Amino acid sequence: MENKLKEILASAKEEIEKTTKEADLMNVKSKLLGKTSEISSLLSSLKDMSIEDKKKYGSLINNTKKELEGYVNNHLAKIESKSNITFDDTLDYDIKKGSLHPVTIVGREVTDLLRKMGFTIVSGPEMETEYYNFEALNVPKNHPARDMQDTYYLDNGMLLRTQTSDNQIHAMERYGAPLRICAPGRTFRNEDMDAGHETTFFQLEGMVIDKNISIENLLYTVRSLVREILKQDVEVRLRPGFFPFTEPSFEMDVSCTICGGKGCPTCKNSGWVELVPGGMVHPNVLRAGGIDPDEYTGFAFGFGLTRLAMMKYKISDIRLLNSGDVRFLEQFNIK
Ligand code: DAH
Repeated sequence: MENKLKEILASAKEEIEKTTKEADLMNVKSKLLGKTSEISSLLSSLKDMSIEDKKKYGSLINNTKKELEGYVNNHLAKIESKSNITFDDTLDYDIKKGSLHPVTIVGREVTDLLRKMGFTIVSGPEMETEYYNFEALNVPKNHPARDMQDTYYLDNGMLLRTQTSDNQIHAMERYGAPLRICAPGRTFRNEDMDAGHETTFFQLEGMVIDKNISIENLLYTVRSLVREILKQDVEVRLRPGFFPFTEPSFEMDVSCTICGGKGCPTCKNSGWVELVPGGMVHPNVLRAGGIDPDEYTGFAFGFGLTRLAMMKYKISDIRLLNSGDVRFLEQFNIK
C-alpha cells in the first residue's frame, strides 16, 4: 500500500507540473481527486478492511489525498502569478502632477484670511429649498429680484441654489448671535453663457452679526480682502446697489485687470467688474434667522469667487474655468 501511494503521488506530481493553464490543471485535478480517481477508490475500499488495516491505512490514504490537493493548489498559484500582469514599481514613470483649480486657490486664500479674522467656515447644500434660497432672504414669491436669479427647479420641489446667501439663514439658525461665518460654495443660474457668465460658478458668503456692527466694519473687511488677494494695483469703487436681503446695499467693483480698465468683453466694455456685493443685513433676514434686529446688527457680503479668480489670474473667459482643459489648468502650478 505504501508503495502504491508513493507511485500515485509521483505520477500525479509529474502530471500536475506539466500543465500551464488553469483549465488543464482542473482537468488533471478531477482525474486525480474526482470520484473515479485511484485515491477515491482506495478510500472507499477502507470500509471492507479490518479495523486494524483501517487504522493503519486510513490516515496514510487521507494524507496522500491532502498532499495531492496541496500540489494542485500550489501549482494553481504558480499559474495565476504568471498570467497576471504585475505592477513593476522599478519602472520610471513620467507622472504629471496636477495643480489646484484657480477657483480653489483663491477660495482658500479668502477663507484663510477670514479665518485669521475670526470667521468660522461653514458650508450648505447645493440643492436647496425656495425658503432658504429666497423667502428667508426677504425675496418673497413673485418678487422681481427672482428674475435676476433664474435657476434650475427640480422635480422634487427644490432648486439649485443661486447664491451662497442661503448659508446666512442656516448659520443664524444653527449658531445664533453673535456670529462670524464664511461659506464658499458652488452656485447655479439659468444663464445665457458668454465670456462673463456661466450656469455654474462659485461664491463665498460672509456674514457678521454682533452688537454695534456698522458699514465701516463691512468696508474695512471687504477692502482688506480684495487688496490682499489681488496684490496688484487695482482701483476699487463703491457704489450703491440693491439686494432685498441687505439695507443699505453696496457693490464693490474693481477696475478690470484684463483690459486695465479700458473696456473689454469680460467687463462688458465698462472697465469695471462687480466683485463684492454686500450690505447691512436686513431686519427681516435677521428675524428669519431667529435674531432680534433691535438687539443685533450685521453685515453680509458675497464674493464672486469665479470672478475673483478671473481678475487675479487675468482669465478673460469664464467658460475656461469649467472646461476641464488640462492645458489651461496646467498653468496654475500651485499645489
Ligand atoms: N447673493 C448675492 C448674489 O448672488 C450677492 C450678495 C449681495 C451677497 C449682498 C450678500 C449681500 O451677502 O449682502 O447676487
